[in-house]
Amino acid sequence: MYWLGIDIGTGGSRALLVDDKGALKAACTAAHEDMKMERPLWAEQRPENWWDAAQEAIRGVLKQAGAKGKDVKAIGLSGQMHGLVLLDAANQVVRPALIWCDQRSQPQVDAINQAIGKANVVAHTANPMLTGFTLPKLLWVRDNEPQNFERVKKFLLPKDYIRFMLTGEHVTEVSDASGTGLLDVVTRRWSREMVERLKLDGGLLPGLKESVEVTGAVTAAAAAATGLKEGTPVVGGAGDQAASGIGNGIVGPGVASCTLGTSGVVFAYLDRPQYDPQGRVHTFCHAVPGKWHVMGVTQGAGLSLQWFRNQLAPGAEYDALTAEAATSPALSHGLLWLPYLMGERTPHLDSIARGAWIGLTAKHSRADMLRAMLEGVSYSMKDCLRILENMNVEISTVRASGGGARSTFWRQMLADILGVSIATLENKEGSAYGAALLAMAGSGAFASIEEACANTVREADSMVPYPYTSAAYQRGYEVYSVLYPTLKPIYGLIHQLA
Ligand code: XUL
Repeated sequence: MYWLGIDIGTGGSRALLVDDKGALKAACTAAHEDMKMERPLWAEQRPENWWDAAQEAIRGVLKQAGAKGKDVKAIGLSGQMHGLVLLDAANQVVRPALIWCDQRSQPQVDAINQAIGKANVVAHTANPMLTGFTLPKLLWVRDNEPQNFERVKKFLLPKDYIRFMLTGEHVTEVSDASGTGLLDVVTRRWSREMVERLKLDGGLLPGLKESVEVTGAVTAAAAAATGLKEGTPVVGGAGDQAASGIGNGIVGPGVASCTLGTSGVVFAYLDRPQYDPQGRVHTFCHAVPGKWHVMGVTQGAGLSLQWFRNQLAPGAEYDALTAEAATSPALSHGLLWLPYLMGERTPHLDSIARGAWIGLTAKHSRADMLRAMLEGVSYSMKDCLRILENMNVEISTVRASGGGARSTFWRQMLADILGVSIATLENKEGSAYGAALLAMAGSGAFASIEEACANTVREADSMVPYPYTSAAYQRGYEVYSVLYPTLKPIYGLIHQLA
């Protein structure tokens, strides 16, 4: 018997199969179209393209494992968070999705704060309103595309659109719903206050479940499209970060994770909601029923490297780029990188912040530029970790995951910059694996998600900081830390240019 985990990422959709011990049996990724960026800081993708990729990945993974649909006991979903998928009365996609890193909705954030009051927004949702969240994106469509908004009958998050295509149900779950700006994260219910005070039709909201609950079953049409069996249960699953938290075994205090995907995230478990007074990190529901998590998010982690490759080293392999970075010394000959390619969330909460290399001289090489980039992203991860530490969240080990963490060079750099040991896991699948574990817990293969993690997640190795390099990076971090406040006044001026 197998359990299927599906992650609808930014770069692609990944499907994997695990056996009844939670051991990975096969995995298959289908790439997505690049995000469409009509203007700086705007980002859209087509939900129909995610569904095409998901079908391809599901068919691919079944084929790879030599499995039939009937061999799959249950399915778990994970996906990029915060994206706005709009469906009309016939369940057709109304317009491309505004995805997680889209920053166009600052006027709507301001309007929400004006209408409800900043303190009330935090009281109702446990977080300040941010351009990245789904609600301001929905209001952007209401304000700017009334002809589209009129047709909208339901909004969904990215993975929940795939759920709809698989099961015909309009349902989300609490971890992903936390990032909409419409969930009362403390009570794990949609916030009636937010909906009513913004004059939204409550019917637009999908149904809500816990991550391990069954949300529906594969329809005949979806079975024909994917090779799955009609009637296979689909559990709630989780937003990619909570799912990655499960895949990394972050289901109790003490261990945090650092995920270097397109975005970069430092993630820790909470027994009860706990907040950064300045709202710089998100306090969201965990995929563990009745528990929460806190995370700091940097928008442009792997995205920095992806941008570099696309613009300056077309066709290069990521491994070759990190190897090139390793030929430059720590501190990159005094070159620094600000990773704010899509504005920034933690720690600045600034939708119009911009990326930059600072300190360029004629001596600098491409290797220095690459190394500075990895260092800058890692400094930003340190910003996230420091906020969690200041909240007294207990963290003794950090587990690295995501595409960036496959590089031993980058993992050692993280250990040196964060000043903590960085562990990796035997199974480095992160979100898709977490989704499969949620399917296992939700279908009775394990008694709980904690038990699923205890039986499957094992550390493989650990890297400790080198004191000498760590001390050098501390000096680098001090300089990095003054760059944003210095540049902040200029970002507003640049924003008026484009
Ligand atoms: C988390 C976040 C990103 C996306 C894309 O808050 O926005 O991690 O989920 O991976």
